[in-house]
Amino acid sequence: MAKIVNSWNDFDPLKHVIVGRADNSVIPNEEPATSEKVPVDSEMRGMWGPRPLETVEKANAQLDNLAKVLEDHGVKVDRPTPLQWNQPVITPDFRTDSMMTCMPPRDVLLTIGSEIIAAPMSFRCRYWEYLAYWPLLSKYFDEDPEFLWSQAPRPRLTDKSYKHNYYDEKVSLEERLERTANKDFVTTEEEIMFDAADVLRLGKDLFVQHGLTTNRKAMEWMKRKYPDLRVHAVNFPGDPYPIHIDATFVPLRPGLIINNPHRRLPEEQRKIFEANDWEIVDAAMPAHETPPPLCYSSVWLSMNCLVLDHKNVIVEASEHNQLEQMDKLGMNPIPVPFRDAYAFGGALHCATADVYREGGCEDYFP
Ligand code: NVA
Repeated sequence: MAKIVNSWNDFDPLKHVIVGRADNSVIPNEEPATSEKVPVDSEMRGMWGPRPLETVEKANAQLDNLAKVLEDHGVKVDRPTPLQWNQPVITPDFRTDSMMTCMPPRDVLLTIGSEIIAAPMSFRCRYWEYLAYWPLLSKYFDEDPEFLWSQAPRPRLTDKSYKHNYYDEKVSLEERLERTANKDFVTTEEEIMFDAADVLRLGKDLFVQHGLTTNRKAMEWMKRKYPDLRVHAVNFPGDPYPIHIDATFVPLRPGLIINNPHRRLPEEQRKIFEANDWEIVDAAMPAHETPPPLCYSSVWLSMNCLVLDHKNVIVEASEHNQLEQMDKLGMNPIPVPFRDAYAFGGALHCATADVYREGGCEDYFP
């Protein structure tokens, strides 16, 4: 019996990873948490239904290629088992007409040491998404005696979990930014809710973005669950749609992190990095002015890279500014085309979930 699951950060040598699949993906219909998260000017607003087959095939081709590149770099790759995502989700508390996808795994699975936690996500359409990963986690459980297979408390996602009348398309960008600064989000503190992609893991420290998909109660749960770790709430006032930290604040190696220049970490929250000689560098500007069609995310997927070790990093092939910056920062960028997969839930970091990285639980902020 071997150790299969181990990962404490996003930059130690990657040896085993899960890469998502786009099969059967659906654009879900509106529900309380999703309306706020689709930018008002997005062509996605009001659209729902199965994603066009041609786009699914193109995304899968790039996901398969990413898996191959990873294998060529000595990384073992596992893939989830997609469900028929166009089925409704029905619980005693709610009904919604479809699920979504098993791209991106990063939102669902949080790996901390030898534990993988299925996150208690706030979208009703994502309620059963973890099932796509259950065959893999079951296998790891059988093969790795130290693997802790966990699930955070399942939210009920009743109407009490969301602020009513929070979404209003007439709300200006300035007001949205004010809401972020005031930590006023669509989700309430009724129950524990988080997306795994809001958690930045740096060994003994977890930096957790308080935003549209993760609430304070989730951070309180993490504190109690991991008494030996330190949980820090972070909040990026420049982001009108704060969802997932990995296009905002991305570590490249110990002591170096890139920060979205439109979503700078406030002075007060930078102190812990500065006091421990970490360099926070503004990320390069994205190469594109708009995201690809039917995409939920911003152009800042440019910085959503997958670090293979303290030197090598996979960056989207058309993101020439980001590729160049990686080189200047002493990294070796590996370009991989991935824009056809963006619409399915994100870029290279989003599309993956850590199973094994070498290294242990370091204290970077003693
Ligand atoms: N919601 C953020 C992060 C995506 C990984 C964005 O669109 O920039």
